Amino acid sequence: MRPREQTPPLALVIFGASGDLTARKILPALVDLADRGRLSDRFTVIGVARTEWTDDEFRKVALQDATAGGERWQRLVERFRYVAGEYSATETFDRLKEVLSEADEQYGTGGNRVYYLATIPPVFAMVAEALAKEGCNVPGPGGEFARLVVEKPYGRDLQSALDLDDAVHRAFGEDQIFRIDHYMGKETVQNVLALRFANAVFEPIWNRRYVEQVQITVAESLGVEHRGGFYESAGALRDIVQNHVMQVLALTLMEPPTGMDATHLRDEKVKLLKAVDIPTPDEAVDRSVRGQYGAGVVGQEAVPAYRDEEGVAADSQTETYVALRLGVENWRWAGVPVYVRTGKRLPARVTEVAMQFHRVPFLAFEGELARQLRPNSLVLRIQPNEGISLHFGAKVPGEEFRVQSVSMDFLYENAFHERESDGYPRLLHDAMCGDATLFIRTDEVEQAWRIVDPYLAAWSQPGGGGLHFYNAGTWGPHIADLLLERSGDSWRTPEL
Ligand code: BG6
Repeated sequence: MRPREQTPPLALVIFGASGDLTARKILPALVDLADRGRLSDRFTVIGVARTEWTDDEFRKVALQDATAGGERWQRLVERFRYVAGEYSATETFDRLKEVLSEADEQYGTGGNRVYYLATIPPVFAMVAEALAKEGCNVPGPGGEFARLVVEKPYGRDLQSALDLDDAVHRAFGEDQIFRIDHYMGKETVQNVLALRFANAVFEPIWNRRYVEQVQITVAESLGVEHRGGFYESAGALRDIVQNHVMQVLALTLMEPPTGMDATHLRDEKVKLLKAVDIPTPDEAVDRSVRGQYGAGVVGQEAVPAYRDEEGVAADSQTETYVALRLGVENWRWAGVPVYVRTGKRLPARVTEVAMQFHRVPFLAFEGELARQLRPNSLVLRIQPNEGISLHFGAKVPGEEFRVQSVSMDFLYENAFHERESDGYPRLLHDAMCGDATLFIRTDEVEQAWRIVDPYLAAWSQPGGGGLHFYNAGTWGPHIADLLLERSGDSWRTPEL
């Protein structure tokens, strides 16, 4: 990971420029970078999409969607360009090539290009191939790089991810490709590395001898919003577990890397992912729970059932909740259950990793006390209330010897005053500077699909992993509790 610097001269080409992701994430990230002086003066954006906009219409949107932009942003937007066209039409790419040359001449972008695929996934491969056909997969005259940033989802199962990768690799080399997982841009996710590898106290206990179980929770209180159509073909396993959960899991459980650069860090993540157990079809059914929310109350608000959301089939079988029992087969983690759960319309938005430690081997305190004592745990709160807490037992003041669970808390907002972003400015900046450390390498994507594929396959069989309903505003279907109770474990109540 490199220190913050200004980007080199370049043209950022956004495919899907009239879409939701550009408006919600990419433009605000650019505003943030512009305001902090991180964009080169020799920088421009070229939007490409099917919507029939002119340059000016795109500029107007860039100013509107990113209302916070200061003077620097406004000056930048004046040079934004827009190419309207179909992704399947050669003319679109001919025109893009012309606009890129004009940008080099007028704005000094120097032949450097970063292409951002913010389109719907089915056209990823088509755009990459069309760029290569036009010779846009190499830098323009005098340039040093041409890179491709690809959004998620990267495939919808192992085979389609491999096919997509083949197609993309025919057009761009792996060192040109920057696959986004926005969780890697989150400060608290990166802080897992700092916690583990910048401190001496945690590493000795970070293994099966001390850790009894790991729980990773990615809970959302929102439903599918206006993305019902997309979500119907995804589901929680593809939408969250294959990418975000696997990244968090890899960083939490991997071996210490010998360097924090793209190669060393990603080598260790892949090694860890390769050690995650791959279940047989029966095991996959046995170790997973899939759920779907019914109507309920979240916060104070009555919300409809998933099946009543816009764009969702009335008999939809898509899971909005999934819980898995995973394991990591290596010396450090053998036998330690790694419980993972994610869901929409749960009571709160909270992402956390909880390392739960073994109980003491012998309890010198008697009776009721023994039952009250909770095992120690270290909780990494990814969001919100970003921070870390350590839970341990302390004596309750008084004549009796009673022990109660208390916690030591570190809160980001108390220690630092930097505002937390959604990760996009950081990732976009890294891609433009050519630092691939926080991006997902081809072998990581592949391995993550190898892990989740057996669940998808098992669930698609008759009788494989039925769908369990839960009321919106609850912590998922009851049967997910049984997944843990079988081993004498239970879900933590996440820290809110
Ligand atoms: C996206 C998923 O990748 O992550 C969404 O497609 C989900 O369904 C979102 O809501 C969660 O991101 P965050 O940053 O809010 O945790």
